[in-house]
Amino acid sequence: MKAGKGFLKSGWMFLFAAGLLVAGLWLLSAKTFAPLPGDAIHAGLNEDMSCLPCHSPDGESPLGEKHPPKEQCLTCHKGETGNS
Ligand code: HEC
Ligand code: HEC
Repeated sequence: MKAGKGFLKSGWMFLFAAGLLVAGLWLLSAKTFAPLPGDAIHAGLNEDMSCLPCHSPDGESPLGEKHPPKEQCLTCHKGETGNS
């Protein structure tokens, strides 16, 4: 089996394109935060105040200690359900 020069060239082009794609996806994902889980609890929630009963320090799912500023949850946590 002989892989000619043509294959080599397009092989590198493919790697290059794949690298660009990965870099692009990485950049995109670095800008997004943990999405709202797409479960029944979180479906249809679109007010910041509605998060607090469960995600306050003594709620059932408290925020981690390193959690950034604790207002306007939905600015960072965009729902998978279409609310933003
Ligand atoms: C009825 C209680 C309840 C309410 C209201 C609620 N959550 Fe949650 N949330 C949970 C529980 C329990 C979990 C962990 C289990 C799960 O993934 O569903 C969770 C998980 C999460 C996660 C994922 C955490 C991870 O480790 O990936 C995010 C982000 C989140 N909630 C944000 C929000 C935001 C923003 C709101 C308001 C729009 C909200 N939640 C409202 C109970 C609630
Ligand atoms: C400034 C952006 C920002 C805002 C505003 C914000 N979050 Fe987060 N949230 C993050 C980031 C970033 C993480 C991931 C933190 C980590 O991995 O340690 C996170 C993680 C979480 C988690 C996963 C558990 C944890 O602590 O790691 C939950 C639940 C959560 N956020 C809920 C909320 C709720 C509820 C609010 C509103 C009261 C809120 N967030 C507001 C950026 C934000």
